Amino acid sequence: MKLGIIGATGAVGKVFLDLLPNSNLNITELRLSASSRSIGKKINYQSDEYTIQENSDNFYLGLDFVFSSASSEVSKIAAEKSKEHNVILIDDSSEFRLNDDVPLVIPEINPDSLNEHNGIIAIPNCTTTPLAMILDALRSEYELKRIIVDTYQAVSGTGNLAIEELINQTKHYLETGKISEEMNVYPHTIGLNLIPQVEAPQENLYTKEEMKMLYETRKILSEPNLKISATCVRVPVIRCHSESINVEFFSNPDLSLITNLFNDYKGITVIDDISTNSYPTPIFGEGKNDVFVGRLRKDISNENAINLWVVSDNLVKGAALNAIQILEVFQKIG
Ligand SMILES: NC(=O)c1ccc[n+]([C@@H]2O[C@H](COP(=O)([O-])OP(=O)(O)OC[C@H]3O[C@@H](n4cnc5c(N)ncnc54)[C@H](OP(=O)(O)O)[C@@H]3O)[C@@H](O)[C@H]2O)c1
Repeated sequence: MKLGIIGATGAVGKVFLDLLPNSNLNITELRLSASSRSIGKKINYQSDEYTIQENSDNFYLGLDFVFSSASSEVSKIAAEKSKEHNVILIDDSSEFRLNDDVPLVIPEINPDSLNEHNGIIAIPNCTTTPLAMILDALRSEYELKRIIVDTYQAVSGTGNLAIEELINQTKHYLETGKISEEMNVYPHTIGLNLIPQVEAPQENLYTKEEMKMLYETRKILSEPNLKISATCVRVPVIRCHSESINVEFFSNPDLSLITNLFNDYKGITVIDDISTNSYPTPIFGEGKNDVFVGRLRKDISNENAINLWVVSDNLVKGAALNAIQILEVFQKIG
């Protein structure tokens, strides 16, 4: 497989390169690209040194796949060039996710949709992926009625600059005892704070991120009428998104059966014993592949509903790993 990575210097790109040697992919050629700021920069991958190339026609020539993880604008260009050069684009941006002819894929849920691509495959948003996997496990036994989800999203979900901003603001407080007023990424200080807004507001007063969780989950699960209400919150955590999820069914669920559903689901791990303080935390989830579930309990206000807590590394299963798993499916089917 001849593979190109656009955004190789970014938060996702770096994790992609970290995970690649442990994948089943047979990479015969690897090309790396990023913004004009990084052209010529050297990156070590395994025992070789790679030079960041310009995202021009030459980059695409002869490749089988390009993974683009930069921005929607970059993905639009990557889509045009990939088409021109007969390269399949695996896209991490939100640009094409809801297009009818673009499969939006989580290999544990809908790998068959890869058969119907038109040259572009999209990866879901990093908050959507864990939610969709949890719901997919649950719906194998119980019909879903309504979902309420609150997210606690790490700053790495916004990329390298946001990680820097959190670290700088936290350092500033530790050194001066004062809250930092210097901010470049978020509309409020994120160090020692949290921000109940992820992305731009929409007409209905939800944010773009919250609506992505609804529309993307519906598409992946092929459940166009699924009811989901999300509140997305940015928290001062470097890696791993957490989600508090309330799921209502049409019947009274059995908790031990639900635990078994999660235990049997590939890619989900249950850590759930509050008597020993056992539940997943973002620090625990960092760098791990699975979606972790804990705090499983019946909703005392509704006998047909449950509450649970989910942690998933936004840079791993939320982005890079999901892309690698898609490539592995392609490699398998030829
Ligand atoms: N972070 C996550 O958890 C996550 C999860 C799912 C999806 N995504 C999506 O993944 C994409 C990248 O996110 P990230 O968090 O890795 O961001 P990031 O840390 O800010 O990295 C952005 C990458 O894009 C490159 N880039 C910027 N402008 C470019 C251009 N004009 N042409 C080519 N490359 C360019 C940057 O190169 P330089 O280093 O040269 O600036 C860098 O490699 C975004 O679309 C994001 O929505 C992110």
